[in-house]
Amino acid sequence: MKDITTSVQIVLAQHCNGNRRPRLFGGQLMAWIDVTGAVAARRWAKAEVTTVCVDNLTFEKPAYLNDIIVQEACVTWTGNTSLEVRVDTYVERETRERINRAYAVFVALDENEKPTRVPEFIPETQEEMDEYAMAVERKVMRMQFQLNQ
Ligand SMILES: CC(C)(COP(=O)(O)OP(=O)(O)OC[C@H]1O[C@@H](n2cnc3c(N)ncnc32)[C@H](O)[C@@H]1OP(=O)(O)O)[C@@H](O)C(=O)NCCC(=O)NCCS
Repeated sequence: MKDITTSVQIVLAQHCNGNRRPRLFGGQLMAWIDVTGAVAARRWAKAEVTTVCVDNLTFEKPAYLNDIIVQEACVTWTGNTSLEVRVDTYVERETRERINRAYAVFVALDENEKPTRVPEFIPETQEEMDEYAMAVERKVMRMQFQLNQ
């Protein structure tokens, strides 16, 4: 994937729940996903962005106090004013293990806080083409979900 935005954190006491062995608090991971995703979106859009939705917050594996957390975010799809970003979160110990993959949609805003066009994302590699095709399916699912609400 091109134009990857990376962020790195250490899990500190204030990021953890109160378990006997303190684990990273899910809400903290969600906040980091939002920030890393927004930076990737802003870099692509060259504009301010706002979060419209975040899909798939399944916490696959735990992270613990003092773990190193690495996030990688990249654009997977663009519409007119919206864009989808994939954010992968890893725990880095002896090896790097993915603990979450989330897809977030952002909308670019102009100086009047109105949605504004984003540069088109054209997938080039096979991975980008596969992600793009799945992003189109996710877009349809989100629209159906919205209609049913
Ligand atoms: C995002 C926001 C600016 C969109 O405004 P809007 O008047 O609904 O604008 P539009 O209907 O023209 O939609 C703009 C784009 O967002 C997309 N969109 C809107 N709702 C969506 C949703 N639930 N899921 C995915 N995309 C969505 C539209 O498809 C459109 O994309 P496109 O231009 O690429 O085709 C507005 O809903 C908003 O400000 N929401 C609050 C966002 C916020 O504050 N986030 C921080 C967390 S609280």
